[in-house]
Amino acid sequence: MDAIDARGVVKIYRSRRSSTVALKGIDLTVSAGKLFSFLGRNGAGKTTFVRIASTLLMPTNGSISVLGNDVVSRPNDARMVIAVVPQGIRPYWHLTPREHIFHYLRFRDIPREESKSRTEWILTDMGLQEYADTPAIQLSGGLKQRTMVAMVLASTAPVLFLDEPTIGMDPMARRQVWNVIEQIRLKGSTIFLTTHYLDEAERLSVELAVINNGEILYKGDVAGMKAKGGAEYRAILGKDAPRSLLEGYGSVVEDGGRLLVLSDRKSVMSLADTASREGLDIAVGPVTLEEAFILLAGGREEDES
Ligand SMILES: Nc1ncnc2c1ncn2[C@@H]1O[C@H](COP(=O)(O)OP(=O)(O)OP(=O)(O)O)[C@@H](O)[C@H]1O
Ligand SMILES: [Mg+2]
Repeated sequence: MDAIDARGVVKIYRSRRSSTVALKGIDLTVSAGKLFSFLGRNGAGKTTFVRIASTLLMPTNGSISVLGNDVVSRPNDARMVIAVVPQGIRPYWHLTPREHIFHYLRFRDIPREESKSRTEWILTDMGLQEYADTPAIQLSGGLKQRTMVAMVLASTAPVLFLDEPTIGMDPMARRQVWNVIEQIRLKGSTIFLTTHYLDEAERLSVELAVINNGEILYKGDVAGMKAKGGAEYRAILGKDAPRSLLEGYGSVVEDGGRLLVLSDRKSVMSLADTASREGLDIAVGPVTLEEAFILLAGGREEDES
């Protein structure tokens, strides 16, 4: 059985003045025990999908089931197997990280002793022990976020929805979250992740989907997405590198003050030879997921208008 099975999911937000079609018929399945990344630009529809799949919002049309529980007709059954970090979640100011985690687990009917030991485990693995008894109001932004993520991950629910869980976290904290996510996945949970950190998605997931303007643009594995971007390897050069030198090696893309040359491995390697003979700085390597994403989803807004 798939952990998440979405068919033809449509969401139209209606107000008196306007209506926004946020999801235009999403079909998506996520296998059990996998980490699945859901990527897309701001406003693409990720949070809308997560909210529907986690029973927080009704779809306009279509259906989603989580471990066989339809989220519309059997929301309470679905809720039994779900835990969710909603986008922009905030802690209660007067409660400490230890209290947040412990009480959340108790709310989920996890026995007292088990809740206690899980609380200590997650505080340690998320690097929160030092702040365990500090009221949330006194925590920094990243520590507040870490507390909320720790709380939900400690549930080790069968299906976890994490909507931008590592936002605002430092690089070390992000790695701690990745480690905990991987531990939980190995115990059998399915994780549905949205993130704008493409290195994170690349590190954690095999399967992913890209949503754009409420439609699925790509669904498959990381390697397939890179292939769809149209290039396997890339070279990075300073923006002053002479364009004439780059001709014939691949497609040249301006990317925030630098130049990317996208091509196959062989062409990129021979460009590296040429460039170093000319004394130019050049970095080469396989296309990253972030580069593939920019190639795939970048400029789509302009296409639409
Ligand atoms: N409550 C709402 N009422 C009306 N429109 C909404 C509402 N929530 C979201 N939208 C619209 O639905 C679309 C999808 O929004 P959504 O929050 O799902 O995007 P997202 O992919 O999560 O973006 P981000 O990366 O910025 O979090 C956007 O056009 C947004 O403006
Ligand atoms: Mg969102």
